[in-house]
Parts: sequence; C-alpha cells; structure tokens
Amino acid sequence: MTVMRNPLRADRRSGSSQDSTSDLRVRFIDVARRFDTEKSVFTAVEHIDLAVAQGEIVTLVGPSGCGKSTLLNMAAGLMPASEGVVEYDGRRVQGVNTQVGYVTQKDLLLPWRTVEYNVGLALEIQKVPKAERRERVTRVLELVGLGGFADRYPSQLSGGMLKRASLAQTLVYEPTTILMDEPFGALDAQLRLALQQELLSICGAYGTTIIFVTHDLEEAILLADRVVVFGKSPGRIVHVEPVNFERPRDLTKLRSLDEFRQVWDELWERLAQQLQETGVA
Ligand SMILES: Nc1ncnc2c1ncn2[C@@H]1O[C@H](COP(=O)(O)OP(=O)(O)O)[C@@H](O)[C@H]1O
Ligand SMILES: [Mg+2]
Repeated sequence: MTVMRNPLRADRRSGSSQDSTSDLRVRFIDVARRFDTEKSVFTAVEHIDLAVAQGEIVTLVGPSGCGKSTLLNMAAGLMPASEGVVEYDGRRVQGVNTQVGYVTQKDLLLPWRTVEYNVGLALEIQKVPKAERRERVTRVLELVGLGGFADRYPSQLSGGMLKRASLAQTLVYEPTTILMDEPFGALDAQLRLALQQELLSICGAYGTTIIFVTHDLEEAILLADRVVVFGKSPGRIVHVEPVNFERPRDLTKLRSLDEFRQVWDELWERLAQQLQETGVA
C-alpha cells in the first residue's frame, strides 16, 4: 500500500494513554446539549467528559437516540454545546471545525461527477491548483483501492466502492481527525471487515485521530483504543473500556481470540443493560 505525504507523520500514536493535555485532539468538558421543543427543553446529552488523544481511535456505542451523533456534531462545530466546552487542539470549537472530516452512513457523492471530480471537490472549493489537485486525488484513490476507477460515476460503483470513495473524499484534505457515524452500517460482514482493516492501516500511517460511532460491538472493539458505552435519558457516558490489543491488528485473527471474546462479553453485558433500560433490546 502506498502511503502519501503525511504532515502528521511525527504525531504517531503512542498508545491509548493520555499523559498530558497537550496531546489531546478533542475534549468534551462537562458538555450538555439541549434542544428546545414546543413544550419543554429536551436534554439530548449531559455531563459528557471525554478526551481523545492525537492518533487515538475511540468508538461510541449505545442505544439509538442517546446522543452519539449529537456528540460528533458538536466536535465538528455543526452545533454548539448548550453547557460546558468542546475543545479541539486545546482551543474552544466555535463554528465549523475545518480540522475534522466527517463520514456518515449516507454518501455525499454527486451523481453527475466522476469519482475523481467528486473526491477533488473539496480541493476545488479550496482553490487548490489543478495539477496538485489531480496528484492528491490520484494518490488518495490508490490508497483506498480505487486507483482504476477515477473516471466512473457513482451509479457505476458497488456499495463497497461507494464507501471507499466517501472515505477518499474525506482523506483528500488530510484532516487530523475523522468523525465517522455508522459509516459501514449498510455493508455485508465480509466487506465491513475489509474496510475496517483498511481504515486502520490508512489512519495508522497518518496518525489520524478517529471518533467512530457504531451499533456493532465487534466493530467497536476491533477498531478501538477505547470503547465508550452510552446510556440514555438523558444521553451520558456510562462506561469506558480500554482495548489494549497491539497494533497493527489483523482483524480476522483478533476476533477469533479468546481475549477478544472476553472483552466482547464484558462490554455486551454493559451495553445490553443500556438497551434493556431503554426498551430497545
Ligand atoms: N436538531 C435536533 N432537534 C431536536 N432534537 C434533536 C436534534 N438532534 C437530535 N435530537 C434528539 O437528541 C437525541 C439524540 O439524538 P442523536 O444524537 O441523533 O442520537 P444517536 O445518534 O445516539 O441515535 C434524540 O432524542 C434526538 O431526537
Ligand atoms: Mg446517530
């Protein structure tokens, strides 16, 4: 696999520990988010304290409606916290946070543009010169395994290829953090595993920080340095589990280990409790 120019190369992951606040990327300090409804004020999340280190991968699991997407939206600066502070690289997030990329379940590919021009769109908007744009797009397409598909239109791509193109759209502007909201939810198990493995190898090489929301506990553990379990009503963090399997990880091997099953069992107990309490299980 080719590894492209990497401004973050020096920021390599140093394990899941956070020994100082200076290497923190994202930090939620006693954050609440409330929404005004017709009759009252609805508290979506409350008392959120979470610090994500440079290069760390944190996964979020919890019942539907517990505020996982809301948390990502606040980190992206798409909505402000109602209480508390959201910081990025030690500075309060105010307005859109251009340091982060956001990948959701729904892709944002324009049907009338080829893969190359979809992936290059953000660079066009930034007025990056055409030659450089082309070079960066070509590199990132190679990286996600779409080297030969630059001239295809989205309608000509499979589900897995669409996901790769979405990831390329984000990677091309080299964000220091990627927020991912159930990005692989709609894919079959085999394809998910392949994309999870590639995500780890690409972001491992870049030292990219990732906050990843999933409803799949296996996926949460395979990817994570820490798994954060949410509870509901109001949305809050009920448990944080460190996942210390060494990197790089061979995900196929990892998920067949007894140690992996043990972590899964422990976390499932906690997660199932939250699902039951909200009547979802
Ligand atoms: N813009 C909004 N206005 C009002 N309520 C919202 C808004 N966004 C989210 N909510 C509510 O906040 C809660 C958390 O939503 P969300 O973050 O999407 O949960 P999750 O991603 O964990 O399923 C839900 O009850 C949802 O209906
Ligand atoms: Mg959500």
